[in-house]
Amino acid sequence: MVELSLAEGIATTRSIRRYTDQAVTESQLATMMFLASRAPSGSNRQPFRFVVLRDGPSAVKARGLLADGASELWSQKSARGDFTATTKSSPTARMIASMEHYVDSFASVPVIVLPCLVRYREASPSEGASVYPAVQKLLLAARSLGLGGAMTMFHQPREIEIRQALNIPDNVAIAATVTLGHPEGQHGPVRRRPLSELVYEDRWQGSAEWAVDPSGTRFTGGPQG
Ligand SMILES: Cc1cc2nc3c(=O)[nH]c(=O)nc-3n(C[C@H](O)[C@H](O)[C@H](O)COP(=O)(O)O)c2cc1C
Repeated sequence: MVELSLAEGIATTRSIRRYTDQAVTESQLATMMFLASRAPSGSNRQPFRFVVLRDGPSAVKARGLLADGASELWSQKSARGDFTATTKSSPTARMIASMEHYVDSFASVPVIVLPCLVRYREASPSEGASVYPAVQKLLLAARSLGLGGAMTMFHQPREIEIRQALNIPDNVAIAATVTLGHPEGQHGPVRRRPLSELVYEDRWQGSAEWAVDPSGTRFTGGPQG
């Protein structure tokens, strides 16, 4: 376990896309699944399920399909020019390099988890609210063990084939594709916009004078830079 406060864990759990070769143990997996499954859900129905992909025959097939999907999504983003680095050492340039490595090595990341949602009624815009808290708890749980992860949507381009490979029934939605492993880099403070841009009081865009970032907070406005 990593000794850090809950607040520190929340403030420093960033997406980790580079992993060492060190294996994630079953004991670590069990702890992460336990902590992720402590997530809230509507009426505590617990519709979340986690399909863990390691090296079983179906997992290997699904990993190949996920890697294809990752590559396709990243190529589309690159072709659209979604990310443009102004300098070689800019945060965006580092992010692009990290993404390229991530996509190229996707099939062999230590562990992939597909958080899924068992639907009990028609699909609705709010149904994700009963599965994404579990995804965030999974990432925080990984952090608590000294591991790291990233949430992606890399299943989407090959979803039909992935569902077939893993025997996922029609009433189950794949909510995300999460990779987990021992970080090659470091966790550290995540960057967001200043609170003054994110928090309103009393009305839309009403200024909340008290919503001040802790001193030393560094910011980012998004992907360009
Ligand atoms: C809905 C959603 C979809 C995401 N999809 C992807 C993805 O397809 N690929 C990826 O590498 N990261 C993905 N991410 C991770 C974000 O890029 C990341 O959280 C964001 O850039 C902030 O970086 P940080 O987590 O390091 O603070 C996704 C995150 C969310 C919440």
